[in-house]
Amino acid sequence: MRKIRTKLLTPLTPDAAVIYRDHVIAWDEDGIAFIRRFDPALDKDCEDRRDLLCLPGFIDVHVHLSQYRIRGAYEPSLLNWLERHVFPEEARSVDPAYAKTLSDEFFQALFIAGTSTAVIYTAPFAEACEAAFASAASSGARALIGMTMMDSNGPPELIQSTDYAFSRSVELFERWHGRNPLLEYVFTPRFALSCSKELMSRVADFASARSAWIQTHLSENRGEIEHVLQLFEADSYTQVYERLGLLTDKTILAHAIHLDEAELDILAAHACKIAHCPDSNFFLKSGEFNYPALAAKKLRIGIGSDVAAGTALSMLYHAKMANFRQSAHSLKPERLFHHITLGNATLLGLEERIGSLEPGKEADLCFLRLPSPALPDEDLLSALCFWGHEWLVEETVVAGRTVFRRLEA
Ligand code: GUN
Ligand code: ZN
Repeated sequence: MRKIRTKLLTPLTPDAAVIYRDHVIAWDEDGIAFIRRFDPALDKDCEDRRDLLCLPGFIDVHVHLSQYRIRGAYEPSLLNWLERHVFPEEARSVDPAYAKTLSDEFFQALFIAGTSTAVIYTAPFAEACEAAFASAASSGARALIGMTMMDSNGPPELIQSTDYAFSRSVELFERWHGRNPLLEYVFTPRFALSCSKELMSRVADFASARSAWIQTHLSENRGEIEHVLQLFEADSYTQVYERLGLLTDKTILAHAIHLDEAELDILAAHACKIAHCPDSNFFLKSGEFNYPALAAKKLRIGIGSDVAAGTALSMLYHAKMANFRQSAHSLKPERLFHHITLGNATLLGLEERIGSLEPGKEADLCFLRLPSPALPDEDLLSALCFWGHEWLVEETVVAGRTVFRRLEA
């Protein structure tokens, strides 16, 4: 059992967080055993880390492992960026050795950023997805992982047959579903432009029969939307997914920027989950996410890094971007912090297990080095949300196991 004397900060609701100063947190692989005020009589044996801040491990609900090495490759328009940078890089993962190296590198980088849980797209090769699962399992990550599916309109190096895309995804699902309590499969049709109707409806049927997760991209870029409407002869992008049965309460839709009222109603009717990717939306000049409109429909909004269109893995950086990328709507620090912890956990149905610091929850933690000179407690949360991405992550813990620890200087 680890016992650390430290400062803790945990979300309570989207509007409230709480600081526990000079407390002791104790945990092991069975979860958080207790959190209590430091007591010199009881707590002689604990590590004194009052120089650190203990937070719930961060959760990233949308990230592309296969693009990790091309962060910042510039091309400010989705379809051109995919062709020029993304597709050539994803093609490299056809080599299993490359896919393994990239996966190992990616999970280490997640932990160094304090992220304990991620929802991941891999390259469109079953072996690359398998390598990502193997790396997640050996490094101790908590993740939902899926092989990107694309059977239409892409470069020949990446295009799969419909059967390959579907049956290899099902194989990966059967192999990883329920095998490791930290890992889950997520069906991953890339977006409407790279998937046939047949593929998407086979995915939808299977996912609904087995109650499986689905992730895809929706309504990110104006040019993309025009192509989709022509190709599928539909009134809206959202209608395309709805007709094919892809919209469920376990479907995570990334971006969701250019939606009209009817589309918002469809998404709300199916209780779809939204991965808001503020940094990516501005890197690619895709547009501004209408946070108030989606929140008004009670849609569950999570935050994703969307690396590599997002430029960094740090979820603290993306919390700040969620504020900065609203030109008129202000998101308070309590809400930003909640989004990247308990809010994202709730989106994934994991709110009873992770997302906040509470006895009985699984121990997904990250420890940041507090700035010096010390900040007053009343300024801490705001400072964390606006420049916490500069504070060093000292340790990341997933399900009670330390997955990253900075070496002593
Ligand atoms: N739409 C389809 N594929 C992608 C991708 O890899 N990244 C982003 N941002 N949008 C996409
Ligand atoms: Zn994406």
